Amino acid sequence: MSEVFVVSGPAEAGEYVAEILARAITTNPETVLGLATGSTPLPIYAALAEKVRTEGIDVSRVSGFALDEYVGIDPAHDQSYHHVIDAEVTQTLGLNPERVHVPSGNPETLESAGTAYEDAIRAAGGVDWQILGIGANGHIGFNEPGSPLDSLTRRVPLTEQTREDNARFFETIDEVPRHAITQGVGTILRAGHLFLLAFGAHKADAVARAINGPISPEIPASAIQSHPHVTVLLDAAAAAGLAPADYTVVEGVVSAV
Ligand code: GLP
Repeated sequence: MSEVFVVSGPAEAGEYVAEILARAITTNPETVLGLATGSTPLPIYAALAEKVRTEGIDVSRVSGFALDEYVGIDPAHDQSYHHVIDAEVTQTLGLNPERVHVPSGNPETLESAGTAYEDAIRAAGGVDWQILGIGANGHIGFNEPGSPLDSLTRRVPLTEQTREDNARFFETIDEVPRHAITQGVGTILRAGHLFLLAFGAHKADAVARAINGPISPEIPASAIQSHPHVTVLLDAAAAAGLAPADYTVVEGVVSAV
């Protein structure tokens, strides 16, 4: 594991990651981004979109691979990750939709969808920069506790905690799908650099176990400890379970890049 930074909040974290990604895309216009859903990465997408606009960065050859999708949800549903990634990333950044991939949650093709997704990532040359949030139970993507650390893209059941956490986006909890297709922990670990972001006291326990706990399938996010290039960005509340020696407090984040 490389570095753990505590910043003043989501906007600063978003600015920090966006600055690194903007430079990466300028250097390599064919950069491959690993995209996460949830509320956590939204400040990254907003800050990067602003830089693309103001600095005139060419993103026409950038590719993106989403981490996951619900199984059995209509891609047009406003909570399908196809829809969320299109609205929050593809359109916000002005990416070429043909270069933005989301695993298929179509129940009829699930057997082959995992392999097809792994093949597509490989064909693009692999993910350069992977953005990650973390579930309150330590999940990354939809790799729930118990996920093998070498797992690849596959169908997984969602825990009741995750369904309850995500119920806020649906009318009732009954509408929250019971299964998802997700990049595996092993898939995620193949990316060149990982950014894991977490904000709020409800993430503190998962963050502490991910960073200081044993590397274990019980906390899938703990697998990041075995990756050589990781940047963790937290607010003070999410860092509450860490010792001060575990992190660096960063002010004026962009100048620290
Ligand atoms: C979902 C996603 C994860 C995400 C997590 C946290 O379950 N599959 O990729 O990290 O939620 O969401 P949030 O960022 O809204 O806290």
